Amino acid sequence: MSVTLENIVSLCKRRGFIYPSAEIYGGLNGVYDTGHFGVLMKENIRAIWKKSVALAGYQTIYMEGSLLGPETLWQASGHVSNFHDPMIDCLHCKKRYRADDINIEKPCIHCGNKHWTDVRQFNLMFKTELGAAQGNTSLAYLRPETAQAIFVNFKNVYSSNRVKIPFGIAQVGKAFRNEITPKQFLFRMREFEQMEVEWFCHPNESIDFFEQWCQKRKLFYEYIGLNLNKIRFRPHAKDELSHYSKQTTDIEYEFPFGWKELEGIAHRGDFDLTQHSKNAGKDLSIFDEETKSAFMPHVVECSVGLDRLFLTLLFDAYHTETVEGEDRIVLKLHPRIAPVKAVVLPLVKKLTDNAMPVFNQLEQKGFHVLFDDSGSIGKRYRRYDEIGVPVCFTFDFNSIDDHCVTARNRDTLQQERISINSVGEYMLKLLL
Ligand code: GAP
Repeated sequence: MSVTLENIVSLCKRRGFIYPSAEIYGGLNGVYDTGHFGVLMKENIRAIWKKSVALAGYQTIYMEGSLLGPETLWQASGHVSNFHDPMIDCLHCKKRYRADDINIEKPCIHCGNKHWTDVRQFNLMFKTELGAAQGNTSLAYLRPETAQAIFVNFKNVYSSNRVKIPFGIAQVGKAFRNEITPKQFLFRMREFEQMEVEWFCHPNESIDFFEQWCQKRKLFYEYIGLNLNKIRFRPHAKDELSHYSKQTTDIEYEFPFGWKELEGIAHRGDFDLTQHSKNAGKDLSIFDEETKSAFMPHVVECSVGLDRLFLTLLFDAYHTETVEGEDRIVLKLHPRIAPVKAVVLPLVKKLTDNAMPVFNQLEQKGFHVLFDDSGSIGKRYRRYDEIGVPVCFTFDFNSIDDHCVTARNRDTLQQERISINSVGEYMLKLLL
């Protein structure tokens, strides 16, 4: 049976990955809170992403920009005039749609009437005012992409880190978009996290780096265990390019609701640095000592939504199976991504004290592990299968004498007896 969006939403809430935000007040459309296992899993994704861009064989510098930016910044970046989606309303039931999401030749799918407003452009940025004094406030926007904080800090990063072109600036952080129709759970949200690297290089090398980054991003998805058969690279047609882009390739994943963008790789040329140079009146070009001339670096950007990747990993990992006549749901997450790496299970409560040193040993070695001595062993296995815990170590009565536990593999269900002294090594091999 193939996985549905409802399966994922239900598992996320049941097992403490994701909750609707302010649910007791009816929720907030397109906004979600993250529970314990969601936090742990996101931390793993962030950490691997950061390494993947830093160890890409080049120099990459990290930064964290502010969430609020002045109006002048967003005017210069083109977001005030260009960052909008086409919107249309049904005049009969007042339902609002993204015009490119529906066929306006047909009746409204909500009420069945065909009575549309004109298509209008709706700016996706959240606007706010800074300052309390009347007449003395200034307009600001919550950032709709993390990238701009990188561009406006380009010279600061360049001089304070003593780097040379080519180099990258990477950032993980929140972005906000007032999406007309947030949908598909974490796929299109109003508040989400992005992982972006902006690669600054000489204009002559930009096409080459664009190709190299496409390859490197594929290796990242392989490393976190995503099924590469469900991934494809789709170059944008000229008429779908963003206002800043010369060339874009989307990495798409085959979701149950179709092939959709997971990550965008964009050749932004010198658009952003030139715009900020002009509008801020600060020269952001670089002086090349070899040719004794100044040039504006070009930028290759890789941008992926953390929440969207999190959702993708859940879709990819979710399996239902029948084991010994019983149905089980299992998240076959790569051990590197799994929120918890192992769980120690005394067969019965009586063995709790005996089993505890196994847990302590794993924790001291730095593995994120759980201990659970309540309920039948079968029920406990099912619980940890749903959270995606790669291995259960069961401590039974024989363990007292033979100093071994049974390691049960989440995916193969194979069980092997291993010495308690070697559980740490067992985990290291699993995570390699
Ligand atoms: N700086 C370039 C940029 O922001 P984008 O294609 O608009 O480009 C990049 O966004 C990535 O951010 C997308 O590929 C997607 O993974 C994620 N993303 C964008 N909008 C999102 C939303 N409303 N909810 C969740 N993730 C989103």
